[in-house]
Amino acid sequence: MDNLVVEMKGITKVFGGVAANDRVDFALRERSIHGLLGENGAGKTTLMNVLYGLYRPEEGEIFINGRKAHINSPLEAIGLGIGMVHQHFMLCRPLTVVENVMLGKRSRRGILLDTKETASELSALSEKYHMGVDPYSRVWQLSIGEQQRVEILTQLYMGCDILILDEPTAVLTPQETEEFFRTLRRMRDDGKSIILITHKLEEIISIVDEVTVLRDGKMIGHRVVGGDVSTSDLSRMMVGRDVLFDFPEPDTQPGEVKLSLKGIFAKNDKGVDALSDFSLDIRRGEVVGLAGVDGNGQKELCEVLTGMRRVTSGSIQLDGKDITNREPAFYIGQKISHIPEDRHSTGLAINWSLEKNLIVKRLEDRSLKRGPIISTRKIRENWERARSSYQIKANGGSDRARALSGGNQQKVILARELESEPEVLIANQPTRGLDVGASEYVRSKILQARKKGTAVLVVSADLEEILQVSDRIAVIYDGRLMGILPRGASTMDIGTLMMGGKLEKGGER
Ligand SMILES: Nc1ncnc2c1ncn2[C@@H]1O[C@H](COP(=O)(O)OP(=O)(O)OP(=O)(O)O)[C@@H](O)[C@H]1O
Ligand SMILES: [Mg+2]
Repeated sequence: MDNLVVEMKGITKVFGGVAANDRVDFALRERSIHGLLGENGAGKTTLMNVLYGLYRPEEGEIFINGRKAHINSPLEAIGLGIGMVHQHFMLCRPLTVVENVMLGKRSRRGILLDTKETASELSALSEKYHMGVDPYSRVWQLSIGEQQRVEILTQLYMGCDILILDEPTAVLTPQETEEFFRTLRRMRDDGKSIILITHKLEEIISIVDEVTVLRDGKMIGHRVVGGDVSTSDLSRMMVGRDVLFDFPEPDTQPGEVKLSLKGIFAKNDKGVDALSDFSLDIRRGEVVGLAGVDGNGQKELCEVLTGMRRVTSGSIQLDGKDITNREPAFYIGQKISHIPEDRHSTGLAINWSLEKNLIVKRLEDRSLKRGPIISTRKIRENWERARSSYQIKANGGSDRARALSGGNQQKVILARELESEPEVLIANQPTRGLDVGASEYVRSKILQARKKGTAVLVVSADLEEILQVSDRIAVIYDGRLMGILPRGASTMDIGTLMMGGKLEKGGER
């Protein structure tokens, strides 16, 4: 049990003069699941990129199975049995699973095997760990959860014994997470050693054997997780204070209907109906939570509401006026804000500066101008405001968005969408990938927008989040509205509707 498969000693990694890792020590035991925790920008991904040979540290030593290693590339890491699944998937979407696996294969096995043989090996592995992956399905047809299993399967196929998973559950539903954890336990019992990065503290408690916490690039604590470690212990270690997702009941009532959907039908990217006869009203000063298992039409609904997808039938009304199928710019002009689900590809221009990313939708905004010209000083002030209220970790506003940690990229989008004083806010998974402190802040901002009269739709796979912020809870399943439940509904009732079931007495419809 005490066999250390990974030992990192005094790792320092500097970016532009700032230490993302500052003399960090980290050790992974054989046959264990080790949680790596820390706020957005704490240095978790950086440390793992060092282990995976993507970054060369300025200082420090790494030992693999007790032997000193110089890991200069992922190829060398793979050679040492280290595999990594990144925060953003790296699959090639038009290809099949087996083709994707074969793309990376030259690395370990050298020789080219034929597709059939690879596919049958993959099937065997998939069966062994109960992953249910069909090697011949095309990646674009797979759900997020399935794509993730493909990523892990690829690593197993390449022969890794040490598996690094960077926020694997951020994109999974509670049910998928359960399933995923069963897979991880099977892998551990089979002799694998796993490093798990996550912001979800309950998950840490439920699955990991030990945990290491980073703060501001430094290792600040290590615990063996047994009965006596609580989520509040962990968040205190991470943030340095208690984090309480405990919001008071709002003291204002929703106003008149702001946004109204009537009998909406829309197709998904594959040309199949994603929304069927979907009707919903959202009032001013109201938060409607949309609960549902990922992939049941939530993404399409948000796109329809922001002009990014056409409806094939039905209508959308804003303040009683028809706005069906207008262009995206029209919706921006109507002060409809959108926090998209896929922040990496649609939320940010990753090669642009942070300052510029913050104002792209506000080029007509007079508060940023001096006369007809956009003022550089005002842009800078706008950035500084966002930076301090959202605690965005960056060197400066001229940094390109790609230099930020995953969670800090999210914060930039949230600042842009929430600070524009929207009249309607469509927030798809607003706290995905955010640390506990930032999640708390974003939820309080959503409630603040509600108080100011914004009509809000919050889409989330996280029922706790839905229950915390919603006045009413709509449940979507297979593109249909299954029912609307009042504030304080039970998670069991919501869960039943999410799975396509019916309630005994039925909710308000
Ligand atoms: N390629 C890079 N260039 C410049 N700075 C970087 C680069 N990668 C990371 N950083 C900086 O290093 C710090 C640590 O980032 P890292 O991605 O390791 O954080 P993290 O703990 O994984 O956060 P998150 O939870 O948000 O994913 C951040 O301040 C980030 O801006
Ligand atoms: Mg990260």
